[in-house]
Amino acid sequence: MSTIIGGDDSFFALDIGTTGIRLVELKGGTPTKVLLKYSYVAVDPKVAMSESKTDRQKLVEVISALVAQARPSTKKVVVGLPSNRVFTTVADVGRLSADDMAKAIRFQADGLIPTPLAESKIDWALLGDSPVDKSKQEILLSSVPNSFVEARLDLLESIGLNVIAFEPDTLALSRALIAPDATGSQLIIDIGRKSTDLVIVLNGAPRLTRSIPTGIEAIVKAAMQGLNIDEAQAEQFVMKFGLSKEKLEGQIFQAISGPVDILTTEIQKSIKFFQTRYAGVVIDQLIVTGGASVIPEFPLFMANKFGLNVEIGNAWRNVSFSRDRQNELMALSSQFSVAIGLAERQS
Ligand SMILES: Nc1ncnc2c1ncn2[C@@H]1O[C@H](COP(=O)(O)OP(=O)(O)OP(=O)(O)O)[C@@H](O)[C@H]1O
Ligand SMILES: [Mg+2]
Repeated sequence: MSTIIGGDDSFFALDIGTTGIRLVELKGGTPTKVLLKYSYVAVDPKVAMSESKTDRQKLVEVISALVAQARPSTKKVVVGLPSNRVFTTVADVGRLSADDMAKAIRFQADGLIPTPLAESKIDWALLGDSPVDKSKQEILLSSVPNSFVEARLDLLESIGLNVIAFEPDTLALSRALIAPDATGSQLIIDIGRKSTDLVIVLNGAPRLTRSIPTGIEAIVKAAMQGLNIDEAQAEQFVMKFGLSKEKLEGQIFQAISGPVDILTTEIQKSIKFFQTRYAGVVIDQLIVTGGASVIPEFPLFMANKFGLNVEIGNAWRNVSFSRDRQNELMALSSQFSVAIGLAERQS
């Protein structure tokens, strides 16, 4: 448990997103940690997504400058893993001793994960009793290709950082956006530039996570095509009028309804899939975060589609900070969810 202030348990968090890199450092114990550092730097999506040497070098420089500016209290860092690189599933395992369980899970994982076990890092968390087999327990199993983790590790070590953990973005999201003692079931959607991450949480633990390759970029592109305008103008219209049927005679709404429908259909599928395993569980609430949570009427539109109460996620909910920072931090909440959740980890 990291209840020591400062000391050896300290670390900071990095979210390397498509449009920006965010850094957060907290201190103190549970349930509330104190905000120590936060910082953000924009990055060209082409650079962030690229595997080329020159772009990698650019990314190194950007992260290096961010860290130099933020001056976290330590070199230790926890880094997010983008959902489109991580495979996550729920699996049932027998009630075994810790040692036997680790062996059984590796064996079982081989048949579950999409990449060869020898070329993948796997991690798992015990969730509790299986809802489908009384003799078993369920685990949340994640895997990520070694090559991806190693590339990230090289990149961060080259600027002198000491990576103490990698964690899937979706797990960080649920930690940031949900109360530690939450009950019931919540659906979190993080609509970013390139993709939308989805997490369904039950009794405080993530049970289903998914990445849908539709995000703000696809929405802006649809507006460009539908209205025959350039990207900057389309972005402006989407962010200003959103899904309003009144503004501009509903032209924006019309133009972007394609990608928005894809998104709602995929989310609906995930809800159905969740309910095949957790029969009878009703989702209580929709929590929206990411860049698109500021698109007018978008969260409400989603809520109506799914018949759920909606809330714009407050990623700072479990963090304390001085009052005069309130407005500034609230404005950043939607893009800092992953970084804050990573920073809230028990190192
Ligand atoms: N206040 C705002 N004004 C204009 N655009 C905004 C605003 N807030 C967010 N955006 C949009 O949100 C996008 C970034 O969203 P977000 O921060 O969720 O993406 P990301 O985390 O970098 O991407 P990903 O999660 O796909 O890796 C920006 O490119 C911009 O289009
Ligand atoms: Mg993001």
